Amino acid sequence: SLDISTLTRQTGLTTLDYGFVNTAATRSAITYIDGEQGILRYRGYPIEQIAHNSNFLETAWLLIYGELPTASELEDFDNRIRRHTLLHEDLRRFFDALPTNAHPMSVLSSGVSALSTYYQDSLSPKDPAQVEISTVRLLAKLPVMAAYSHKKSIGQAFLYPDNSLSFVDNFLKLNFGTLAEPYEVNPVVSRALERLLMLHEDHEQNASTSTVRLVGSTEANLFASVSAGINALFGPLHGGANEAVLSMLQDIKDSGEGVAKYVERVKNKEAGVKLMGFGHRVYKNYDPRAKLVKESAHEVLAALGVQDDLLDIAMELEHYALNDDYFKERKLYPNVDFYTGVIYKAMGFPTRMFTVLFAIGRLPGWIGHWREMNTDPATKIGRPQQLYVGSPARDYPTR
Ligand code: ACO
Repeated sequence: SLDISTLTRQTGLTTLDYGFVNTAATRSAITYIDGEQGILRYRGYPIEQIAHNSNFLETAWLLIYGELPTASELEDFDNRIRRHTLLHEDLRRFFDALPTNAHPMSVLSSGVSALSTYYQDSLSPKDPAQVEISTVRLLAKLPVMAAYSHKKSIGQAFLYPDNSLSFVDNFLKLNFGTLAEPYEVNPVVSRALERLLMLHEDHEQNASTSTVRLVGSTEANLFASVSAGINALFGPLHGGANEAVLSMLQDIKDSGEGVAKYVERVKNKEAGVKLMGFGHRVYKNYDPRAKLVKESAHEVLAALGVQDDLLDIAMELEHYALNDDYFKERKLYPNVDFYTGVIYKAMGFPTRMFTVLFAIGRLPGWIGHWREMNTDPATKIGRPQQLYVGSPARDYPTR
């Protein structure tokens, strides 16, 4: 039998597939999605069961290593991560050098990229021991850098991590604690954030994960690959949608135009007007994560005693869209980002931090895919084809 590169060379046939809607670039055993049915499973476990029973680090282990950890494996993993939360002091000067008004996603991708300069052992991506320590360092340090990017954007002093706290509680304290006062973690906020992060942990070959795999296929190290993934996530058609949803809801509120009018503008395809947080390349049914996030939105706002008009506007938008032929015909449903922003806002995160939260959630998936790619003997450097549509050969003009 011929392999695909020989077949391509011999026949001269190439598939033109803008956006890779039908081109599988790999086999993967990590996540299963059935977009028609609205099914999502991590390593075979339904997302609903994960969300209700697991926690962030256990799910991370599952995605990265393939099975649920034993109690002692999880404890050891958690302890190793806690021991690696500190950043090199020089990295603080690195953060100082960036503009205060920088977008936290830009700060985060730069910080992760800079990790390769502090941990040069990571430059041997085929050494399993280096992959292991890079995995732990990333999981430990990304939330700390994320919190630093938040503190920097609001002009507050950085806090050191408190390793007596769990992964999520430490992150909350780093974001909302100050040097002036003790910080008490609100258990409702902690549990809700843990759940949201779990729901974001993996989603097979989305744009950022594919980017991580593509960069990694060149045998670039884990930090370089994840930094590229963070940049891919930044865009409003991907992770940046959670920020864009909140801006959209706020604009609808501020303009007073009303939901029906906004939906009409979406249907008329006015330039730049979309129903952000709606639609998905894979889901042609309700995104199962969106259902769980919507539950959390009501719980968190009620528990925090927050009344937010934006949640009402979001629900009204959803109601309109789900009953409208434009959205029905195109099978457009709320995706994971539709309700997350309302929750993050109630927790006290500024809008510009929303995509950073997505990045922390997605990190285990990126690592799991990078490691799967890195150890799969079938992996080749990612190198798409093109159909050349430019000028035929011509002579350079003599002057
Ligand atoms: N609002 C209005 N119309 C939409 C929307 C939307 N959010 N999404 C898709 N459509 C329409 C398109 O205009 C197109 O209509 P047409 O057939 O009349 O031309 C049709 O639905 C199909 O859309 P495509 O753009 O071809 O779908 P694709 O799979 O390429 O895009 C995407 C998926 C990028 C997610 C798109 O639905 C979108 O832009 N959504 C808004 C941004 C968003 O929420 N992104 C987050 C995605 S989930 C994630 O990254 C976690």
